[in-house]
Amino acid sequence: MTTWHASHYARWFPALCADRLGHKPVAVTVLDRAVVLGRARDGRLFALEDRCPHRHAPLSAGTVTESGIACPYHGWRFDADGRLCEIPGMPGDCPLPQVRVRNIAAREHDGLIWLRLDGRDEGALPRMLNENSEGSRRFLWQTQWQAHVVDAIENFLDPMHTHWIHPGLVRSGERQPMTARFESDDAGFRVIYRDQPQQSGLLYRLFESPRESEQAIFDAPGSAQIEYRYVNGGIVRISLHFTPQTRDITSVFATLHVENRWAPAWLVRRLVWPFLKRVNDQDARMLAMQSANMRRFPGARGASTQLDLVRPWVEAFWQTGEAPAEEQAREVRILL
Ligand code: FES
Ligand SMILES: [Fe+2]
Repeated sequence: MTTWHASHYARWFPALCADRLGHKPVAVTVLDRAVVLGRARDGRLFALEDRCPHRHAPLSAGTVTESGIACPYHGWRFDADGRLCEIPGMPGDCPLPQVRVRNIAAREHDGLIWLRLDGRDEGALPRMLNENSEGSRRFLWQTQWQAHVVDAIENFLDPMHTHWIHPGLVRSGERQPMTARFESDDAGFRVIYRDQPQQSGLLYRLFESPRESEQAIFDAPGSAQIEYRYVNGGIVRISLHFTPQTRDITSVFATLHVENRWAPAWLVRRLVWPFLKRVNDQDARMLAMQSANMRRFPGARGASTQLDLVRPWVEAFWQTGEAPAEEQAREVRILL
């Protein structure tokens, strides 16, 4: 039915910004599975397969009840675990059939709703989430890209396209020689950029202050982050969490966290939002072109060089469900 590696159904993916879930159920798609999210009136967050077991009406068109959801077609009621608890019109002394809606595990963390499709509420969310201190989030945004999840992740972590796609925004001026060190383990990898000359580009000017380090971090299955540390102790983390809806559409959840610096959310939003939106639109446009062209050339393989630092790991992980076996550490010189 699906082409995703089975192990991805046992991983946590964000599916919705929590503030988008009000009194109505919301339909989302994760790994080609249709899911309905709801918050029962008793406050409990739940996620179920978006199909009524009676005549397959979408439960997302139904209504949230005290303890779960009611189907829009004949009103069958299910609790937050998907158990059938009432059939309108059925005399009270008649037993209910043993049917239920498939349950999906749901957790709320720092403004995002995370799902695990196999229904087991166990295992940890991506480790990078633990780095952020309470209340350090300044920004949260949700969009979607027309792109395969591997191409989407690669795009965010690839510095080599920035001169072409975002001229003047991320980096500007002459390319500078520098070193990128790639280190991986079984849960992800990081790329440490060294010998960076002082930054050019708008982002640097916004956060004007000498940088101590810059690194890109990836936590399986789909969480990517660029972290900037400043000499004055400030830390800025821009994270993108990627969730495949289908082969061609990927949900993108963007957050920005600031530590140890005075930077109120409204100000960050006002300064950073136009910049991020512009960068997003430029990337989304190129990814949509790439995705459309890959449909014209199905099965074509891309040629890679040492500059394509993150692609092998991400591609292997998404294909096999596991980190590449050998511990990888390599260093490349690049002109950035
Ligand atoms: S289709 Fe859901 S109650 Fe009939
Ligand atoms: Fe980009």
